[in-house]
Amino acid sequence: MFREILAQDAVRIQAQFDRAFRSLEDLVVTQAMAYATQGGKRLRGFLVMESARLHGVEPDRAIWPATGIEALHAYSLVHDDLPCMDDDDLRRGRPTVHVKWDEGTAVLAGDALQALAFEMCTRPEIGAADIRAELALALAKASGAQGMVLGQALDIAAETCQSPLTLDEITHLQAGKTGALIEWSACAGARLAQADPEPLRRYAQALGLAFQIADDILDVEGDAEKAGKRLQKDAKAGKATFVSLLGLDAAKARAEELVEQACTALDGYGSKAETLKQAARFVIARDS
Ligand code: IPE
Ligand code: IPE
Ligand code: MG
Ligand code: MG
Ligand code: MG
Repeated sequence: MFREILAQDAVRIQAQFDRAFRSLEDLVVTQAMAYATQGGKRLRGFLVMESARLHGVEPDRAIWPATGIEALHAYSLVHDDLPCMDDDDLRRGRPTVHVKWDEGTAVLAGDALQALAFEMCTRPEIGAADIRAELALALAKASGAQGMVLGQALDIAAETCQSPLTLDEITHLQAGKTGALIEWSACAGARLAQADPEPLRRYAQALGLAFQIADDILDVEGDAEKAGKRLQKDAKAGKATFVSLLGLDAAKARAEELVEQACTALDGYGSKAETLKQAARFVIARDS
């Protein structure tokens, strides 16, 4: 069930991107933006769509923030792959943006995707102005120096840190780097419905951490062909991860505990939350 819904949402999100890029001037930077948004699992966009469905919000409203968060996520990946960050040449099975074009294009495409994300999260089609303002305010917090950028900065700093990070420090790093955007995505449906986002927040906090632990495990023992990106890089780069601190087995056990926690947080929604629970189980069983 979850996989079919994820696939349907991915098609809708791609169609929304296609329409957005058709209206832009045909330049290298807009070609790079379109390229960077193609592919990917669309998990964050799915979380927006599914949390909206959970609250009875029309998909025609939710598709805007769902596409917006995928634009923001794509920007974060384009910059994450730059030579001054993780220096990766492969993403989603294809050359990274700075390899296909150049670094200047990658920086600008990332910048413009970030702006596009805020445009999409404030579109009039979403609904009342206060709802759109709240979505955008929360996205600014989740993506900036209290969220994703904070986590990325701590991730880079840890590479050259003399002493290994503690469990609390790695948890804080990952809550920013990966958790904040996942949390925003899962809470978006409640925000669209002006409902209480707290159960979804608890779900997403556990899910986000499990998601990043799974990414770190994939880096160690994943199949690069399936993952579509270079693996076995974290240890060499001195990245601080749950795997580097706890080892593979304990990291896997922790990810499973977190998925249980995520599912329990949704119990109040009853059977309506089944697809979100399946998504949580998928996050630690995935191979890409
Ligand atoms: C990769 O995210 C970067 C992390 C935050 C670990 P995803 O694994 O969701 O990447 P795509 O969008 O499916 O390519
Ligand atoms: C990237 O984390 C997180 C963001 C882009 C915010 P990673 O550096 O672990 O992601 P991959 O492994 O390159 O996909
Ligand atoms: Mg990185
Ligand atoms: Mg990386
Ligand atoms: Mg990684």
